[in-house]
Amino acid sequence: MLKRRLLLLVAISLVGCAPESRIEVVLDKSDPERLLQFYFGSYVQGGGDPFESRILTRQGRRFYADPAVLDAHHPGLGALLRQRALKNVLSWDSLGSFLAETYYEARGLPPTLQAFKERWSYTEWLAVEVDGPMTKARRRIYVAEQSLREALQAYRQAGNRVRYATGTAIVADHYQDSMLIEHTAMVRRRDGFWDFVTYAADGKLAPATAALPRALATPLQCVGCHFGSKQFEPERSFPDAAPRAPEGLRAYYVDSTARDAEVTRYLEEHARRSDTVLGLYATLYLSRLRAGRDTLSASNLALLNELGL
Ligand code: HEC
Repeated sequence: MLKRRLLLLVAISLVGCAPESRIEVVLDKSDPERLLQFYFGSYVQGGGDPFESRILTRQGRRFYADPAVLDAHHPGLGALLRQRALKNVLSWDSLGSFLAETYYEARGLPPTLQAFKERWSYTEWLAVEVDGPMTKARRRIYVAEQSLREALQAYRQAGNRVRYATGTAIVADHYQDSMLIEHTAMVRRRDGFWDFVTYAADGKLAPATAALPRALATPLQCVGCHFGSKQFEPERSFPDAAPRAPEGLRAYYVDSTARDAEVTRYLEEHARRSDTVLGLYATLYLSRLRAGRDTLSASNLALLNELGL
């Protein structure tokens, strides 16, 4: 009698989990939960947490994706996810294939650089040239001054953090030997993550960056450095010049008006990377405001005063 009841209990609990309807996601990475939140959060209609919307569930240290729920958010993608999974297990590589096939469209990212520029058509951009670790190409990175001002105006309210508004875009043009070879960009999402985009030299969406020194699948491989806590050069040594690294040049091409040591210490922008942004845009912006204090507009002066700078 007892044995039969036990058997029934086991049977009910098996049906309850219905493991065969879900796909196990196995990434073999140190913080899979955060990565999965980003990757699968890309498919939550209207933005949101994929665990809350039940696209993903967690059982102990295992993670499962539910194709039926995914389909409810994006018809057809559940079936595709099932196809990409091998024996009901989605590996890092198969997740990469799925993202490459579906991510840009699901995110509604502009299909061409031209369309991207039309959507973010600010006239005043902070621009800075950098040699950094992401690519051997020289990067020219742009952040709209208005986005910076808004983030800095909200700095104290955000608990002394540089947090950009939803919809903010940061764009980087990549040059090799003065030739424009590609563009990458990040767009701030509502859920606190950023979308990552790569456009090839012809202005069309590309699944990965150029192989300098290695191609980075977008967005699969974009998050490692941006989510982690490792400090990179040249940001780590700023406002001083970075020591020459064996891997290549590390430098910000800015003059002394952008290298204010007090502002750098005040924001600790790179070390804190409050918004998974790695560059020093707010630092450069405030440094230049301080250097030109005598000729500032009333609103910029108010911004410095409010920050106590
Ligand atoms: C090797 C580490 C690394 C990887 C991987 C990486 N980035 Fe970055 N990224 C950086 C660093 C460091 C910066 C700061 C400026 C610089 O060095 O170019 C940065 C800056 C950026 C910026 C400017 C905004 C910011 O955070 O400063 C964009 C846009 C960007 N990366 C896009 C991407 C995209 C798209 C990918 C994937 C294709 C990617 N990144 C992968 C390290 C990385």
